[in-house]
Amino acid sequence: MNPLFLIRNLSKVFPNGNTALDCLNLEITESQCLLVAGSNGSGKTILMRILAGLVDASGGELLFRGEPLAKALGKAGNFRQELGIVFQDADSQFVGETVEEDVSFGPSNLALDKEEVEARTREALTKTGLWEKRTFPPRRLSGGEKRRLAIAGVLAMHCRIIIMDEPFANLDWPGVVQVLRGIEALKAEGKTLIILTHELEKVLALGDRLVILDRGRIRDSGKPEEVLDRLRPEYGIRDPRRSYSTVEDCSWLD
Ligand SMILES: Nc1ncnc2c1ncn2[C@@H]1O[C@H](COP(=O)(O)OP(=O)(O)O)[C@@H](O)[C@H]1O
Ligand SMILES: [Mg+2]
Repeated sequence: MNPLFLIRNLSKVFPNGNTALDCLNLEITESQCLLVAGSNGSGKTILMRILAGLVDASGGELLFRGEPLAKALGKAGNFRQELGIVFQDADSQFVGETVEEDVSFGPSNLALDKEEVEARTREALTKTGLWEKRTFPPRRLSGGEKRRLAIAGVLAMHCRIIIMDEPFANLDWPGVVQVLRGIEALKAEGKTLIILTHELEKVLALGDRLVILDRGRIRDSGKPEEVLDRLRPEYGIRDPRRSYSTVEDCSWLD
């Protein structure tokens, strides 16, 4: 069976000569929680944008279920509906005047009937614990709630693949815990999760696979435990097991 994403010799060079991604090779399997760890500037956001079809790579190959991503993108919106993105800056993602309106925006563009849009919106808001806040303007939410709202939007679209770029950035402890609960729920539903973060200590326990990105290169990938055993200081990633004894303990969930 074809992997969900097959990345071969993928590179991204900007017009100013910056090489953001350098010859990446990676397979992303369906229903897996993939953690991509890398320090600032390692290329996480660029990789996310290329996987989502928002930016073109400069070279290499990117196959989605065995066919070039460009082809998948051309197919009447399937790919766009299947893949959801939770951007680092959640504020830039909101379009509704209220929480409820924001979540219903995506499904209401899918030619679904009104009842279905309402049912999806209700379900997504309940799952993310935002039902109570449905009449609030998004800007009045806390950081954790905003990121959960972004997750609710993706849920209401029934996306099967979700990419999260730095989902813990600028969140306090309760906010991180809220987002982790959301990630847990998505995992339980068998979604494919791609989480890009430099904060491994918050999420490691939820990852099935770990990739280390450093200065645009994949330095290692595999089972989290094994990758961490091989971790080198120059990658700029801290081994969270230094503060938490085992991989299973590395989460801000109790
Ligand atoms: N538009 C751009 N032009 C030139 N270089 C860029 C551009 N966008 C990002 N970069 C560079 O690409 C590299 C990777 O950036 P990014 O993917 O944002 O890293 P991360 O998300 O891991 O912090 C960085 O060195 C950054 O400076
Ligand atoms: Mg980034």
